[in-house]
Amino acid sequence: MKKEFLDLGRQPIANKFLNKNEFNDEFFFDLKVVFDDKTKLVSLKNFVKPEMMFNESYAYHASMSETMKIHFQDLAENIQNEFFPTNVLEIGSNDGIFIRHFNPDTSVAVEPCENFADIVKDMEYKTYAKFWTKELSSLIKQEHGTMDLIYAANCICHIQDLDDAFLAVKNLLSEDGIFVFEDPSLLRMMERGSYDQLYDEHAHIFSVTALSNLLDKHGLEIFRVDNLNVHGGSNRIYVKSIDSDIPVEMSVQMNLNEEKNFGLTRFKTYEIFSNRVQKSRDELLSMLRTLKEEGKKVIAYGAASKVTTVFNYCGIDDSLVEYITDTTPSKIGKCQPGTHIPIVSPDDGFDETVDVAYLGAWNFRTEIMNKETDYLSRGGKFITHVPQVMMFS
Ligand code: TYD
Repeated sequence: MKKEFLDLGRQPIANKFLNKNEFNDEFFFDLKVVFDDKTKLVSLKNFVKPEMMFNESYAYHASMSETMKIHFQDLAENIQNEFFPTNVLEIGSNDGIFIRHFNPDTSVAVEPCENFADIVKDMEYKTYAKFWTKELSSLIKQEHGTMDLIYAANCICHIQDLDDAFLAVKNLLSEDGIFVFEDPSLLRMMERGSYDQLYDEHAHIFSVTALSNLLDKHGLEIFRVDNLNVHGGSNRIYVKSIDSDIPVEMSVQMNLNEEKNFGLTRFKTYEIFSNRVQKSRDELLSMLRTLKEEGKKVIAYGAASKVTTVFNYCGIDDSLVEYITDTTPSKIGKCQPGTHIPIVSPDDGFDETVDVAYLGAWNFRTEIMNKETDYLSRGGKFITHVPQVMMFS
């Protein structure tokens, strides 16, 4: 049975940055979150139609961050050195940040957002601009044979029908092939109070526990879990076919134990989290209102999807946060979904008039602190809500 534990209110498409003439037609949905007490999976109660989120105007551009470029290069090298895959498939290849490290002659990309599919096509990779389904996996099998590595980053948690997605993987995996995917970790979200991981695209936030239950149904088994710092705390899950001889490593049981000890298998833990989220909203609003009364200029740094959730849930608009700076060309000049706060480039907006910046891209805190030493040394301050609402410099 699915039990609701969190209501984040009326929310827009988190990555659909808008021009002024699009404000009136904006789509909203109720962002509620449920826990399935059978599988232990945490999911959105109401899914948004995939075509509304993942299309030719998709804004998230993975290569905008140096941290992520290094992250994917290191992973590609490690996988090549340890598993020697020949046939490689990436689901959700975005701008090619990962697949670019593999041979185009033996690699295939799947990317439903056509603006990004075109980039990878131009890099000479065979690219299917389609959603990942069992039907597509059968077509790819026919055209390219089975795969030694199927990889996906921040993509499997977007797929609403996980049974179909895992069936599709099982169908295409070679005998000793591996399926590696990484997505935000439910445990880290719960520990850090980072409720902004919840938005339309994240149909599910995975625990190792839930994934293990879901994969098992399809003859797939987790053999390694890496805990990662990226995207606010993610898990990289290594999966094999149940019949494969690859040994199951200690990290799997360790993660399952850690999740159980934290209480991820009990509904009560989610009710406690929900209270923490409401407290976080009250504290953030109170801090922003105080700064406003003091006449401080407050902006936001990084128009991440996560900020869409926070600002819409808390009811923060341009009366509290003047604008948001972001380096992504396709976001600049547009407005944040829902709140319609303007997005400007850091060159135009991150100047000496700024007193305080809400750190929307809190998951890149180290990269940003290293970059913004001038701002910090002149007394500029940042705000975050993770793990609790605070100001820091
Ligand atoms: P990110 O956390 O990658 O994604 P999500 O949309 O999944 O929450 O988004 C970070 C945003 O912050 C992205 O739009 C790029 C922007 N950004 C900056 O503007 N400056 C920076 O220095 C960094 C690292 C990111």
